[in-house]
Amino acid sequence: MNSVTSFTLNGEQVSVEVRPDTTVLDLLREKLSHKGTKEGCAEGDCGACTILLRRAGAKESFPRPANACIMTVAQIEASEITTVEGIGNGVLSDLQARMAENGSSQCGFCTPGIVMALSGLLARSSAPDEDDIHDALAGNLCRCTGYKPIVEAAKAALSTGIPGSSGHEQIASATMVSSAGSTAIKPTSVEDLLSAKRDRPEAILLAGGTDLAVPLAAYETNWPEIILTGSVSALRELTVTDEAYEIGAAVTWEELMHAVADDYPSFATLIKRFGSTQIRSMGTVGGNVGTASPIGDGPPAMIALGASITLQSLDRGERTLPLENFFLDYRKTEMANDEIIVGFSLPRPKPGQLFRSYKISKRYDQDISTVCGAFNLQLDGDVVTGARIAYGGMAATPKRAVHGEKAIHGKALNRETANAFGVALAEDFTPLTDWRGTDTYRMRVAKGLFARLVADHAGERVEVMAP
Ligand code: FES
Ligand code: FES
Repeated sequence: MNSVTSFTLNGEQVSVEVRPDTTVLDLLREKLSHKGTKEGCAEGDCGACTILLRRAGAKESFPRPANACIMTVAQIEASEITTVEGIGNGVLSDLQARMAENGSSQCGFCTPGIVMALSGLLARSSAPDEDDIHDALAGNLCRCTGYKPIVEAAKAALSTGIPGSSGHEQIASATMVSSAGSTAIKPTSVEDLLSAKRDRPEAILLAGGTDLAVPLAAYETNWPEIILTGSVSALRELTVTDEAYEIGAAVTWEELMHAVADDYPSFATLIKRFGSTQIRSMGTVGGNVGTASPIGDGPPAMIALGASITLQSLDRGERTLPLENFFLDYRKTEMANDEIIVGFSLPRPKPGQLFRSYKISKRYDQDISTVCGAFNLQLDGDVVTGARIAYGGMAATPKRAVHGEKAIHGKALNRETANAFGVALAEDFTPLTDWRGTDTYRMRVAKGLFARLVADHAGERVEVMAP
């Protein structure tokens, strides 16, 4: 067992002895005196703490932006980290120089995070367009300068200032690190993970940490035992066959977003709105589904697309079930205590399939859904011959609209059918009122989203494949 965590920081190999449940932001600022990485919100929203991370075992050569405030030291063993002190090689990087010339910063608090988020974009894309720049900045708040001069600086710096991999050989990852009363286990196989879970039933099962680590960042808790899922390479596999996407539970939303963009552009757009690049780069598909939030944005689309989920236990092996059957009640799932989520199978599109997903929230980027609707229709001409429709935010779980689906079967996709769907929807859902929306508002939105689908279909057929 190791008591130190080793990783690469700005090209140098570093070993530190700290509790593995320490946040990376605290490690950088308090222990390593890298104070260029700032703390703003301490919950993954503002981007002030953005660093670049190339995770141990990552297939890609470029680093991804991530929020240091909600990342634990346990997650960075054998990884490569770049902070704002590490770009530019002792002088301003081209991007930093453009920011300075362009009047792109005032307070200096958000600026390091903005520089890192944009450096991450430049590292993975040689010719990002304005949309890419705005997406890269979606997780970075600037309250005083305004984004225009920042975007202009990013455009001007498109060809230089790109931090790459350090070129160091990757440090071998320890399978267990323990320090000052906190232990992180890093299993390398599903069986080892299940054994660790059986032996340490109180341990936190940690994937991306984008949800679980928020109380850590707020110093509300600590974790004596952590079991990491991302160290199991099988859980990080994403393969595409003719029939389906086979998605390991620890695949990130950023990875899935790029994978499905051609088949399901509407799903990719929805994923883009889950959270910032920083959040998508760490948050996993298994984590999002496993929290069983009624307003999680992944499940409605995956249920509508007919996804299945595979669970595994040591004693009973694997079992696969339709994702819609996984959710039993509010935050209650079919998964037994001795099981983990291994992965998902998401069918690829078929001829005549129309898929759309829509998210309604108070803010476009980085917000929680009030209602999320996903519509997967099989069409013969304009006639609906099959339908799978699911919503988030309308019940205690993500749920299919089975009465709505029946009401449109065999009907032409038009306004009259949308009205019939709206009437049937009242049999499917009795939504709650909360501060995001009243029950009446939610029901009107849910009906309205189907009407939007009809209007979309009438105007453009971008996702209907030729039969
Ligand atoms: Fe705000 Fe980390 S401090 S995202
Ligand atoms: Fe800091 Fe804009 S420069 S809030």
